[in-house]
Amino acid sequence: MNRNIISALCALTVMGGAFAQTPKKPSTKAAAAPTIEEKDAATLEFEKFRAEMEESNPAELFEMKGQEQWKTKRGPKNVSLAETCDLGQGIGKVDGAYVKMPRYFADADAVMDAERRIVWCMVEKQGFKFDDIAKKPFQGGNDNSAPDITNLVTSVATHSRNMKIAVPLDDPKVRDAYEVGKEIAAYRAGPYDFSCNTCHGADGKRIRMQNLPNLTTPQGAIKGVQGWPGYRMTGGVMLTHQWRMGDCFRQQRFPQPKYASDAVAYLLTYMTGNANGQVYKGPGIKR
Ligand code: HEC
Repeated sequence: MNRNIISALCALTVMGGAFAQTPKKPSTKAAAAPTIEEKDAATLEFEKFRAEMEESNPAELFEMKGQEQWKTKRGPKNVSLAETCDLGQGIGKVDGAYVKMPRYFADADAVMDAERRIVWCMVEKQGFKFDDIAKKPFQGGNDNSAPDITNLVTSVATHSRNMKIAVPLDDPKVRDAYEVGKEIAAYRAGPYDFSCNTCHGADGKRIRMQNLPNLTTPQGAIKGVQGWPGYRMTGGVMLTHQWRMGDCFRQQRFPQPKYASDAVAYLLTYMTGNANGQVYKGPGIKR
C-alpha cells in the first residue's frame, strides 16, 4: 500500500472551522471557468487509489467478524441475533434488509435504521445493556478496535450489495419520520447558524478540497448513502452511517445527538428515502 498517498489523503481531510464554499469564481485571466464536475487532482488521485483498494476492500475483515457475531450465541441471555433478531424481513433474515431501512418496527414502536435496530436486538434479545454499547459505539480513540456493533452493521449491509434502496415511505410512520428528518436537515442553529443544508443543500458546495453532496436531491442523497458503512482512510477506521451523522452534527457545532436516537434515525430516513430507487453498492472506502 502506498504510504505517500495515504498520508497525502489524510492531510487533505479538513475538519476545522471552514465555512462551506462554492468553488472559487474564475479569475478573468482563467481560460475556462471551473465547473463543479471538474475534478481536482486530489480527487482523481483518491479515485484511482480507491479503485485499487476496492479489489481488496478492508471492510471485508469487519464483514467477516460481523457475520460470525450474528450467528454466535452471546450476551446475558446467550442467544444469537440470527435466531432472535428481525430486521424487517423475518427473524434472522439479512438479505436486502439494509436497503429497506430505516423502517417502522411495531415491537419497538419506533422508526429505526439498521444500526439502531441491531442495537435494539442486542439489548432486548441478547440482554446487553444499552449504556454499555453507547459508551463506545464507534471505532477510534485510545482503544482503536471496532466495536461489535460496527462489525454487525457492516455484515448486514453487505447482504444488500447491488440492491435498490427502498425505504418504505408509503408507511405513514416512516413518512412522518421522513418529514421530521427534512425539518432537522433545514434547522439552523448553533454559533454559526448552520443547518445540514447550509453545507449539503445545494449543488457544487465544497469545504476546501471536499465535495459536499447535495442531500436534498436523489443524485446527491445517494452519494451520502453510498459507501457507508465505510473504511475511512483517515485514521484507518471502519465507521457507520450513524457515525457520519454524529460527526456532521459536530461540523455544525451542534451538541452530538444521543447514540441510536430518534433524531439520527429521522435524518437517515430523509436522506436514504431521497436515494430510493438507486443501487446500493455495499460497504466501501472513504477518505
Ligand atoms: C459545516 C459544514 C457541514 C455541515 C453543517 C454538515 N456537514 Fe455533512 N459533511 C461535511 C463535510 C466536510 C463532509 C465530508 C466530506 C468528505 O469527506 O468528502 C460531510 C459529509 C457528510 C456525509 C457523507 C458524504 C459522503 O460522501 O459520504 C453525509 C451523509 C453528511 N455529511 C450529512 C450531513 C447531515 C445530515 C448534516 C446535518 C446534521 C450535515 N452533514 C451537516 C460538512 C458539513
